[in-house]
Amino acid sequence: MSDSNFRKPVRKAVFPVAGLGTRFLPATKAIPKELLPVVDRPLIQYAVDEAREAGIEEFIFVTGRGKTAIVEHFDTAYELEATMTGRGKSLAPLDPTRIEPGNLVTVRQQVPMGLGHAVWCARAVTGDEPFAIFLPDELMYGSPGCMAQMIEAYNEVGGNLVSVLEVPMEEVSSYGVIAPGESKGNLTEVKGLVEKPKVDEAPSNKIVSGRYILQPEVMDLLASQGKGAGGEIQLTDSMAKLIDKQPFHAVTFNGRRFDCGSKIGFVEATLALALDREDMGAEVREMAKKMLG
Ligand code: G1P
Repeated sequence: MSDSNFRKPVRKAVFPVAGLGTRFLPATKAIPKELLPVVDRPLIQYAVDEAREAGIEEFIFVTGRGKTAIVEHFDTAYELEATMTGRGKSLAPLDPTRIEPGNLVTVRQQVPMGLGHAVWCARAVTGDEPFAIFLPDELMYGSPGCMAQMIEAYNEVGGNLVSVLEVPMEEVSSYGVIAPGESKGNLTEVKGLVEKPKVDEAPSNKIVSGRYILQPEVMDLLASQGKGAGGEIQLTDSMAKLIDKQPFHAVTFNGRRFDCGSKIGFVEATLALALDREDMGAEVREMAKKMLG
């Protein structure tokens, strides 16, 4: 296949949101973790806004039982709009995230079998197009956003892309790790990929940080992908099989990343974003100073 086959526009994005969020119990007993707010926006909205900024048109949520509220968050809220209008106010500036009617699709992942399985559950909707993946636990903070930076790289090299960042070597076992080839600017060739390696077997300290652009062929590989690290069907293992067959690069995100899958990361994101807000940053700074004595 010629390279031009790996350069179709990226219009669709998959959001795996079926996870149970056990690390945030009891907060996540009745509320999906993706709806926990960082300041005043639910976590999922940061990912969806990042996707829209990057030109994504179709939003595919891989959900499960108890996750319906995520979909409702992107609905029109008639009661709220009517009430606000009645008060002479507009909801629009407070709720800028709109998904065009028909452009939000949900598929179900009935059984928790891993990220690779979750992504595969979206295959009928992604079809024969390349697609982006957003893991909403990772809050990527920067302008332009992480996916916009990746799309810019995609326009240059096509194929498959993951976002990466460097972590201290002792942390690599929690992530997918790349074996890096040549680098140019923010782009690095990907020569290998391994999911949750032992520290002394890791090919680098460059970890995959929750944003992907993948070619549709990955779905065929996922269909027959056996269990990998942690006994789960790993996206990383199928992606690894694309290397050498299709272009595969990593983009080092120019911005900040918060791991909102952990409590510390969530608190860090909340504080960092609050400090950065024009409407409250100064007050938050004063408050934090006082608290720290
Ligand atoms: C998943 C991916 C891993 C990636 C990580 C980023 O792992 O499998 O490759 O580095 O997300 O957050 P998980 O966090 O689901 O264990």
